Amino acid sequence: MCGIVGAVAQRDVADILLTGLQRLEYRGYDSAGLAVQASQGQVQRLRRLGKVEALAEALAQTPIQGGTGIAHTRWATHGQPSEANAHPHQSGPIMVVHNGIIENHSELRQQLQQQGFEFQSQTDTEVIAHLIASFRQQGHALLQAVMATRKQLTGAYGMVVMDEQSPEQLVVARSGSPLVIGAGIGEHFIASDQLALLPVTQRFAFLEEGDVALIERRSYQVFDSQDQVVERPLVESTVEHDAGDKGQFRHYMLKEIYEQPQAIANTLEGRLENGQLNLEALGDLSQVEQVQIIACGTSYHAAMTARYWIESLAGVPCNVEIASEFRYRRSVVRPSSLLVTISQSGETADTLAALRLAKDIGYQQTLAICNVPGSSLVRESDMALMTRAGAEIGVASTKAFTTQLVALMLLTVALGRGRQLSTEQEKDIAAALAHLPALIEKSLAMNSDIEALAQRFAEKHHALFLGRGSQYPIAMEGALKLKEISYIHAEAYAAGELKHGPLALIDAEMPIVVVAPNNELVEKLKSNIEEVRARGGELFIFADEAAGLNTEGNVMVLPVVHCDNRIAPIVYTIPLQLLSYHVAVIKGTDVDQPRNLAKSVTVE
Ligand code: G6P
Repeated sequence: MCGIVGAVAQRDVADILLTGLQRLEYRGYDSAGLAVQASQGQVQRLRRLGKVEALAEALAQTPIQGGTGIAHTRWATHGQPSEANAHPHQSGPIMVVHNGIIENHSELRQQLQQQGFEFQSQTDTEVIAHLIASFRQQGHALLQAVMATRKQLTGAYGMVVMDEQSPEQLVVARSGSPLVIGAGIGEHFIASDQLALLPVTQRFAFLEEGDVALIERRSYQVFDSQDQVVERPLVESTVEHDAGDKGQFRHYMLKEIYEQPQAIANTLEGRLENGQLNLEALGDLSQVEQVQIIACGTSYHAAMTARYWIESLAGVPCNVEIASEFRYRRSVVRPSSLLVTISQSGETADTLAALRLAKDIGYQQTLAICNVPGSSLVRESDMALMTRAGAEIGVASTKAFTTQLVALMLLTVALGRGRQLSTEQEKDIAAALAHLPALIEKSLAMNSDIEALAQRFAEKHHALFLGRGSQYPIAMEGALKLKEISYIHAEAYAAGELKHGPLALIDAEMPIVVVAPNNELVEKLKSNIEEVRARGGELFIFADEAAGLNTEGNVMVLPVVHCDNRIAPIVYTIPLQLLSYHVAVIKGTDVDQPRNLAKSVTVE
């Protein structure tokens, strides 16, 4: 999704902007651009289709000096990826970068064309530049022109505006797409997220919905949606380490896969001590009669897994829905329902809209399971359970997913207390969770075996993933990972569903990945495996050795460390992550920034 960086400083800012863009590359994009203004001087703009690297090369050939600038990585929504559609967009002295979608852009375009404005791009963003220019022509100062412009916009935006006639100033506005202000010494910055600015500052102020801010070298001033001055204080960054560094790893995704033991330990810190679960932060859930979980993508798979846990362990009815579906259908709110949203970023547009709708239709208690403190989802929910995975850069989610599962297991216990979950069971779950980081370490030791196995997938065009019970969502997540980064078409099925269709697909060309812990469903799963074997499918089974699987024929069994069945979904996720990673590396795809995808989808 689009990334924004801006700076007002005494030093030259082009390199700061470029570094910021590089650190936002993980969000996904197809073109990049920047505009820089020397004090009292003319604005120079540079844009390139493709990677930030292409923009950096262009900048090296044509260095641009100046202390005020804005920059952008674009993820196309309106208008194909091209240099002309890349940001910043210009209207005379006005330059604009924007993240979001302006829904009424067609009518605004027509009005502006009638006023004589000429459009150079197919984007919705260009209307913002012309609107601001038109208000400037009517005599408004830059800040007032932006305030007047936003009143005409319908849709979502995070935008930064620079004006050749107001040097050493940027005006920013937020409605739907997050923006943070970074404070340096005698300089200020703006960006879509903190990561972009960590090389230049650790102090941030978070803009809220409807805010407009005037950013200058020595100060910033924020106005709310009613144009009233409001305080948005600076806080020290909570991002503990500079996650924008791959260290010894070839890709962020692999680094993040390997960070999982630590990420899980961090998520458990203070919540699991001396074998006891401390869940007071979740408040009193004894009145909850039903749980509704809403999420997108990988976070939705975490929700699906939790449904098995919440119903079987806590005995509380649980419903799970994709946010983009929930937000556009009329659903029934049961009394005493807990609404849970799950999101790595806390900024996914559909999940946020679903939360807002849920509150409107009567959900009284809302909980966000989220990885980004201060994100919109966290701020707009009654309670938050933070996952503490640390910044996740790879577009394909890994450590965010397993830490979400840990948080959801904590929620399950909190719900189960005083209901059907016995003290004995809680003790066992606590012990299993305490052991989890070590189990993940052991699972990571499968890396070289999986790397060898990945060769067998590289030439394939399709794959099936099978699981049963709480492993079915893990099979779904495994299939999603393979699709996302290796571009191999993959589908997951609840293994019992094979006979109702997918069996027709099975032949010697079809690899079938099975997750098979030694649980109460393993005998059923064995029958499903036989159905595949009988039809000549090529089976790759991740299994507990104690499950006693038949290894005859076209079957490869990869032993997975033995673990408590309640946490097995978390453990079995690891080999599937490694499999998709190695297949993608062999195929030579862009592992960390797969084509067409964005890390955080802040538009609908
Ligand atoms: C995008 C990402 C996925 C992620 C999904 C939901 O599609 O590419 O990896 O699972 O958004 O994001 P969230 O931040 O809400 O978990």
